[in-house]
Amino acid sequence: MRTQIAIIGAGPSGLLLGQLLHKAGIDAIIVERQSPDYVLGRIRAGVLEQVAIDLLDEAGVGQRMHSEGLVHSGFDMLFNNKRHRIDLEKLTGGKKVMVYGQTEVTRDLMDARTAAGLPTVYEAANVQVHDFDTKAPSVTYEKDGLTHTVQCDFIAGCDGFHGVCRASAPRSAIKEYEKVYPFGWLGLLSDTPPVHHELIYVNHPRGFALCSQRSATRSRYYLQVPLTDKVEQWSDDTFWSELKLRLDPEAAEKLVTGPSIEKSIAPLRSFVTEPLRFGRMFLAGDAGHIVPPTGAKGLNLAATDVKYLASAFAEFYQDNTEAGIDNYSERCLKRIWRAERFSWWFTSIMHNFDGEGAINGKLQQAELDYLMHSESGLRTIAENYVGLPLNFGE
Ligand code: APR
Ligand code: PHB
Repeated sequence: MRTQIAIIGAGPSGLLLGQLLHKAGIDAIIVERQSPDYVLGRIRAGVLEQVAIDLLDEAGVGQRMHSEGLVHSGFDMLFNNKRHRIDLEKLTGGKKVMVYGQTEVTRDLMDARTAAGLPTVYEAANVQVHDFDTKAPSVTYEKDGLTHTVQCDFIAGCDGFHGVCRASAPRSAIKEYEKVYPFGWLGLLSDTPPVHHELIYVNHPRGFALCSQRSATRSRYYLQVPLTDKVEQWSDDTFWSELKLRLDPEAAEKLVTGPSIEKSIAPLRSFVTEPLRFGRMFLAGDAGHIVPPTGAKGLNLAATDVKYLASAFAEFYQDNTEAGIDNYSERCLKRIWRAERFSWWFTSIMHNFDGEGAINGKLQQAELDYLMHSESGLRTIAENYVGLPLNFGE
């Protein structure tokens, strides 16, 4: 098999890249180690910045998002038993976000790919990347007892944090920056109406909590839990009781509980790889960086990586220039570090770090109190949450 771009991974990054390349008339094959159902079974964050919304529109897959997604012009922060609204729209001169699950984004992209008849190899075992330091890279994988080879011009590593692409980069050429937080998020999805029409981010002495949603009838809630907790320890009842303890009396009273559809624990991590290019192999999305989910930046960052990568490839094939390719890593990393900073900071003011001493909680309360009473403090949160402009700082 021969293609222009071999994309490894059919998560949101790989699928979106595939769609943008298709629009630009560039050939690509996606090689994914899991099945479509497995990919769609992963429940992840669901807040889209305008940049991501625009990109999904550009990729021609925005229709269902616009009809089913929920436009949010603000969210609440709860601490010291009091809720404070962050009016995103007012604080940012009219910007909003869209609440639309990543699973749905993935489904829309998968459907568009199938409708366009574009090739995706699912359940590919032992995927390996070769010769990306030459002009003739290739990808091999095993399927149905045979080894297959894809010859290509470039490899796009969209294979997530545990993927093969970053792992195949020469150790001497790569630098990894990592911070692992001493807790995880226990998430619960349920067919119950959301407790509030907007999201509530909670700083509570018992730990962080988040009230999110997928629709008027489907809610997504999270609790900060110790990393040592196992999901089996958390019955639905235990989850709901603990959530109520972390909410203000009005929300606790209003909370509608019900059986969970999904429950899982995710660790929190800040992680960046530098660079994002190794010869003719490029990393995009979670393959190159991870943010803790507090700022809801993961999918949005993946979307901008992919936007930059798709235009770099388009410039290469259409304008015969390598400028975009040469610039890819630096251009992405600037935006990535800004989002890493916000996600780390928002995580650090909203979670319980009691392990670091009681002074931590006191300093957090003082910081939150300051932020809520300062126009610049509120604006700092709002402008980062909706996403900094693509040309920020240029
Ligand atoms: N070979 C082929 N496919 C692989 C391999 C491999 N060796 N390793 C991983 N994959 C696949 C995974 O099965 C997965 O479907 O790559 C895909 C990577 O998808 P994601 O982990 O969803 O990463 P990405 O597409 O970059 O999406 C970023 O996911 O975690 C969230 O917050 C993050 O929203 C962001 C989004
Ligand atoms: C979610 O709805 O899953 C979600 C929303 C906001 C976040 C993280 C997760 O910051």
